[in-house]
Amino acid sequence: MRGIILAGGTGTRLDPVTRAVSKQLLPVYDKPMVYYPLSVLMQAGIRDILVISNPHHLDAYRRLLGTGADLGLRLEYAAQPEPRGLAEALLIGGEFVGDDQLALTLGDNVLVRPGLSALLREERRRLEGCTLFGCPVPDPRRFGVAELDASGQVVSLEEKPDRPRSNLAVVGLYLYDNEALARAAELKPSDRGELEITDLNRTFVESGTARLVPLGEEATWFDTGTHESLLEASVFVRGEERQGRPVGRVDDIAREMGYLPAAPVRTGG
Ligand code: DAU
Repeated sequence: MRGIILAGGTGTRLDPVTRAVSKQLLPVYDKPMVYYPLSVLMQAGIRDILVISNPHHLDAYRRLLGTGADLGLRLEYAAQPEPRGLAEALLIGGEFVGDDQLALTLGDNVLVRPGLSALLREERRRLEGCTLFGCPVPDPRRFGVAELDASGQVVSLEEKPDRPRSNLAVVGLYLYDNEALARAAELKPSDRGELEITDLNRTFVESGTARLVPLGEEATWFDTGTHESLLEASVFVRGEERQGRPVGRVDDIAREMGYLPAAPVRTGG
């Protein structure tokens, strides 16, 4: 499976903080924001990852992450000239993905859950169509919203609905089989001129191959798109780190996943 991190956009909601800096490079407590979605892809066991950002910020990502060799990864970079929607990542990344499956993640999402690595690897194994992840939120109108039937099947997906049919937000992590590339190429821009990820995902609902995995109460998820949520995410990460539960430490994860040799054990004297 190939991974894509979408880290472009205009960041207007965080203006002026993002006027000269890419939003996904802002700190979430003690790490650049992009480390958190990168750590999620790494926990899924994905090592080939494409970072997409707008052309004037791409070099900053290259400086930060390089080839990925330090983390046992193979990183590539591609530009999205204009923010034409999340689903455009599948068009930009089409060649990179080739005939593989893919995991797309948004560069501004922080997702933490005990056992996440095992869960993601299991979902990779059983992937057919698209797999989404859901978290209950107090204000679903800010997100993509999924409605499930009694058996847990996805019956509807709506993007930022005025009247949400549930409180289950679709998080910014999407697993797709290769079919998604062709489906993305067929999408028409929405009223706001974007290739909407929810429109792509809805095609899988229609073909009966969309699965949504509720992440449960033990998951913590932030879309750090506002000043409030950015601050909340930083406070959360600081709290976790102080409790000895590290979050987004890509070096540690690279070792845990066996991408790098284990750190030498320090001995006294
Ligand atoms: O965070 C989860 C939510 O992300 C989902 O529940 C929604 O269904 C999904 O549409 C998305 O909603 P957002 O309102 O967060 O989307 P936004 O337009 O803010 O874009 C998300 C991130 O992707 C943001 O960091 C900017 C970046 N982006 C956005 C667009 C439209 C790009 O890199 N390129 C783009 O073309």
